[in-house]
Amino acid sequence: MRSAGKGETVLSVAKRHGIDIPALCHHESVQPYGACRLCLVEAFWGKRSKLVTSCIYTPWADERIETNSDRVRRARRIVLELLLARSPDAEGIRDLAREYGVIEPRFRSRRVEANIERCILCGLCVRVCAEVVGQHAIGYASRGPDRVISTPFGAQADECIGCGACVFVCPVDALHYQDIDGQRIMTELNTRMPLVGCHVCGRLFATEKQIAKVRERLNLTDELARTCPRCRGSEFRGTLERCLISKNVSSNTEGVGQLLVQRTTPHDKE
Ligand code: SF4
Ligand code: FES
Repeated sequence: MRSAGKGETVLSVAKRHGIDIPALCHHESVQPYGACRLCLVEAFWGKRSKLVTSCIYTPWADERIETNSDRVRRARRIVLELLLARSPDAEGIRDLAREYGVIEPRFRSRRVEANIERCILCGLCVRVCAEVVGQHAIGYASRGPDRVISTPFGAQADECIGCGACVFVCPVDALHYQDIDGQRIMTELNTRMPLVGCHVCGRLFATEKQIAKVRERLNLTDELARTCPRCRGSEFRGTLERCLISKNVSSNTEGVGQLLVQRTTPHDKE
């Protein structure tokens, strides 16, 4: 028997106790949103039960929660079929779907047929940009099946600092950035910004706005903010690498945006 603290969600209790609940649109650095519905669990009052979304659900005192009942697994299977239909190439979704016995979805997505990007509209990128980076550079545009993540009017946003936090947090690799010919290019967001050279070695490593943001947020000297991760002292480099936001960027210590994200997580604020 595990119990929840005051205001604690089912997902957070489960995580605390090492109980696995798949949760695609959840990240501890941002407010929960309840978009993907993959984290469904079954809440019981006596013999009655209903499915609830564990990342936003705070249990009542006399409730019992089942995280892997038949009903839960059936519901997650359908959610995974829908996600897979929408984002068939996303490795994370394919792996999860396989775990739940879903190989090919029964549904077809108009978005895939129309070759619209693989985004599952989980909103993580939007929340990270707003809540962690503090920039509000991206949001939702259009409605219904045409809904997409976009900059205002699809043009490069003044608010964007090119930090790439949205790219790192995306669970299905729907957003990308590349540093080419002295420019940071974020194709899906129609964004292109010149890169600035490291104060020590001259290597291009961050955008001007990104450096300014990090300097202000972390109260760094201009010199340190303009020094690339490779040239920073070992003590500082250790801090940088300690808790990168994304699942698979631990070898990438280039992004000052990662540093920004890492240093402003709720955990670090405690
Ligand atoms: S681009 Fe990625 S992070 Fe943003 S809403 Fe789509 S799937 Fe989620
Ligand atoms: S993690 Fe709960 S709805 Fe996505």
